[in-house]
Amino acid sequence: MNLFDVYPLYPIEPVRGKGNYVYDADGQEYLDLYGGHAVISIGHAHPHYVDAIARQVAALGFYSNSVENSLQKEFASRLGKACGYEDYSFFMCNSGAEANENAIKLASFHSGKVKILAFSRAFHGRTSGAVAATDNPKIVSPFNRTANVEFVPLNDLEAVEAKLKEGSFCAVLVEGIQGVAGIQMPTGDFLRGLRRLTTQYGVSLILDEIQSGYGRTGKFFAHQWAGIRPDIITVAKGIANGFPVGGVLIAPHFEAWHGMLGTTFGGNHLACAAALAVLDVIENEKLIENANEVGEYLLSELAKIPGLKEVRGKGLMIGIELDKPVAELRRRLLFEKHIFTGGAGISTLRLLPALSIGRKEADCFLKAFKDLINE
Ligand SMILES: Cc1ncc(COP(=O)(O)O)c(C=O)c1O
Repeated sequence: MNLFDVYPLYPIEPVRGKGNYVYDADGQEYLDLYGGHAVISIGHAHPHYVDAIARQVAALGFYSNSVENSLQKEFASRLGKACGYEDYSFFMCNSGAEANENAIKLASFHSGKVKILAFSRAFHGRTSGAVAATDNPKIVSPFNRTANVEFVPLNDLEAVEAKLKEGSFCAVLVEGIQGVAGIQMPTGDFLRGLRRLTTQYGVSLILDEIQSGYGRTGKFFAHQWAGIRPDIITVAKGIANGFPVGGVLIAPHFEAWHGMLGTTFGGNHLACAAALAVLDVIENEKLIENANEVGEYLLSELAKIPGLKEVRGKGLMIGIELDKPVAELRRRLLFEKHIFTGGAGISTLRLLPALSIGRKEADCFLKAFKDLINE
């Protein structure tokens, strides 16, 4: 059997990772400024993480959500403290799309209404509801297309209010920072305006922090820079450094009932051990502070480079827009300079490294980038 051919691949196979670097079978080292798409938060093969997973799988890797699991409770409590949402509840699942799917359900159950308001160029995942709220017709199958999702431009509060006035929306779904769109920033005023309007019209505000959360921007969640508190927050990617975990943080006014949400694998013992180890490392190594500091450094150094169309971002979620396609530059960074980066759209380079990168790695990228664009 062959693989179903849906991924365009670079002819490179990392077989080992350590910190901010991955290695192929020949021992060639690559600086990883992509983190496997914002997933590697604490660096590859962190010894504390490896040890925690190894110990847990040797004790008990999995049991179903029909019995007590104190690891889930411990993780929810630790996460609540770490991110400042101690009064919220937590539901664990397996991916970002699944987290958004459950968030949409919660808002719809809560209000009894059916429609979601999302934003131009949004990406929320590939399952049914999440992909319907994703503004990319190429990945939305006819089955997923629904009149239950509408899109308005990001940062356009008038357009939001015109829709919410209709009275049929259960939620507004917005990314902390739009990632797949090429690091497009909602303004602080816009997020505060969304909070005001959703409260006024009795609509849930869902913040998708799957890419922008978990410390990436220098605060636990990107929306915390705007000083707002959403009703529902979704997380995944960096939460367990590559072990598939998603989660939904749920404000106290949502009522749970048995059977309302569920999953076989979500919150299993191994997932909790991985996620707890990630929180340990984020806290012990002050990685959120580091993301802020190294991110500011990268952004300020990039701003000095002439000829770039725009540099956008916050912390270690950075988009560098060129006035030409970026694919060749990414290819040369990888094959000539041995640096992994991400892309978005045609002309934006995306940096989504682990929160542990230092000035050394930042300088290595800046030098390689300048060398190539100045050729
Ligand atoms: C903002 C955002 N939401 C949701 C998702 C979907 O996450 P997953 O691929 O884990 O389903 C992604 C993935 O890139 C994302 O960036």
